[in-house]
Amino acid sequence: MNFLKRYDDYKEIFEAELKKRIETLNSSNETLKDAMVYSLTVGGKRIRPVIMLAVAELLCVDLNKVLPFAVAIECIHTYSLIHDDLPAMDNDDLRRGKPTNHKVFGEAMAILAGDALLNYAYELILRSVTDNNSLSAGRLLALYAGAFGMVGGQALDILSENTVKNEETLYKIHENKTGKLLLASTLVPSCLAGNAHFDKLSEYGKNLGLLFQVTDDILDVVSSTAKLGKSINKDADENKLTFVTLYGLDGAKSYADKYYGNAKSALSDLEDNEFLLELLNFIKDREY
Ligand code: IPE
Ligand code: IPE
Ligand code: MG
Ligand code: MG
Ligand code: MG
Repeated sequence: MNFLKRYDDYKEIFEAELKKRIETLNSSNETLKDAMVYSLTVGGKRIRPVIMLAVAELLCVDLNKVLPFAVAIECIHTYSLIHDDLPAMDNDDLRRGKPTNHKVFGEAMAILAGDALLNYAYELILRSVTDNNSLSAGRLLALYAGAFGMVGGQALDILSENTVKNEETLYKIHENKTGKLLLASTLVPSCLAGNAHFDKLSEYGKNLGLLFQVTDDILDVVSSTAKLGKSINKDADENKLTFVTLYGLDGAKSYADKYYGNAKSALSDLEDNEFLLELLNFIKDREY
C-alpha cells in the first residue's frame, strides 16, 4: 500500500465535495461568506475528513453517507482554529501559512465566520440524517465538539494559562480540545455502520488524538514557521500547559511513543488496518 497516495486520494474526494458545498453555500452577506471560504480553503492537512473516509471504507460504509459528516467536521475544526487564533485566545497572526482570519477580516467578522461555519456544519448533518445510524453519528459529533469535548478543552486550556500545572489537567485539556474531534472522526463512520468495531475504534481514536496534540506541542518548539505555517514557541510565550512545558521535550516524546503504541495495539486484530496504522507514523513523524 502506498500510504501517501491513498491519503491524497481521500483528500481529493473530500476537496471535491467541499468545493461543491461552497458553491451552493448561502449567505445574506458576501463579506461573511468570503471570511468563511477564506479559512476553509486556505490549506490544511484535512486529517479529520481523511480519517472519516478511511474508516468508512474499512467498514464498507457508502462514501456518500459519510461525506456530509466529513465536510461538517472540517467546518467545525476550521471554526475552532479561527476562534483559537483570536487575540482573546492564543492571539496568532499566522495560520496555514497565511494571515489569520481576524488579521484579514477583523475580529468581529472572524467571530461571525466561526459561528456561521459551526451552524453550517449542523445544517449539512441534519440534511443528511435519514435513519437512526446517521442520527446517532450526528449526536456523537455534536457532543464531542461542544462543552463535553473540543469547546470544553479550549476553556480548560485558557483557564490553565499561568496557573494550573498538573498532569491530570494536561491530560484533560488534550483529550478534549484536540482529542475529541479526532475521536469523532473514527467513531462517526462506526455509528453509520451500526456501531461496528466501536470499542476498538474508540481506543484507537483516543490515543491517536493524544498523539496528535503531543506532536503539536513538540512541533511548537522543534519546527519552523515556514514548515508549520503558524508561529512557533507560542506555548511557552502564552504560558500554556502542554506536554513540553510540563515534561520537557524528551518527556513529551516518551508520551508520544506511549500513545502511538496504545493506538497501534487497539487495532492489532482488525482486518485491513494498514492505512490506519500507517497514519500513526504520519502523525508522529510529521513536520507540519
Ligand atoms: C491544528 O490542527 C490544531 C490542533 C488541533 C492541534 P491541524 O494540525 O489538523 O491543522 P490543519 O487543519 O492541518 O491546519
Ligand atoms: C488548539 O490547540 C486546538 C483547537 C481546538 C483549535 P493549539 O492552540 O495548540 O493549536 P495551534 O497550535 O494553535 O494550531
Ligand atoms: Mg489554543
Ligand atoms: Mg493555538
Ligand atoms: Mg499548538
